[in-house]
Amino acid sequence: MSAGIVALISGRGSNLRALVEAGLPVRAVISNRADAAGLEFARAQGIDSAVLEHRSYAAREAFDAALGDAIQAYSPAAVVLAGFMRILTPGFVARFAGRLLNIHPSLLPAFPGLDTHARALAAGVKVHGATVHFVTPELDHGPIVIQAGVPVLPDDDEARLAARVLRAEHRIYPRAVRWLLEGRLTIDNGKVIVNDSAAQYVFDI
Ligand code: GRF
Repeated sequence: MSAGIVALISGRGSNLRALVEAGLPVRAVISNRADAAGLEFARAQGIDSAVLEHRSYAAREAFDAALGDAIQAYSPAAVVLAGFMRILTPGFVARFAGRLLNIHPSLLPAFPGLDTHARALAAGVKVHGATVHFVTPELDHGPIVIQAGVPVLPDDDEARLAARVLRAEHRIYPRAVRWLLEGRLTIDNGKVIVNDSAAQYVFDI
């Protein structure tokens, strides 16, 4: 198996950029949208890139099978979702079990799904953040690898809070992916253990 990473994106690609800038071996970038800005970054870096339009497939299973084949061509050690806006089928998740990570912009299990920053503001939480987790069939669940907490400040709006969380995302995702590539992550009874007990949290104040 190669030691490389395949990254799945749908848009901006700032987490992809953070992984590459951290020196991680991103071998290929696959997007379900041709207009994803992250594709331009991949091309500029000389990283293989491909577009797989989900609309070209009649069923979710067919798209996920084709996506899985495109990924498997690289025999990656890690498959990272970096703003990939698709719900994945249980078959896809099983195919890449143990090497499939996602980053989500909230402190899970709070605020799974969309619009996390607006929901955090509406709930009045004082601490918000981001989570890297192994992907399981249930959306935004799965064993938690690392979390970053950021304060929610009195004059925050959605954009300010999102920007603060995004900076934290860029700190924790490379760290988590590196741990996975180094074989340091064990899942025990639904919980992730890092084998040298490195800190699995960041407070970005
Ligand atoms: C990030 O906020 C990530 O947590 C979420 O989607 C966003 C992707 O941003 N899953 P980018 O494309 O990495 O800039």
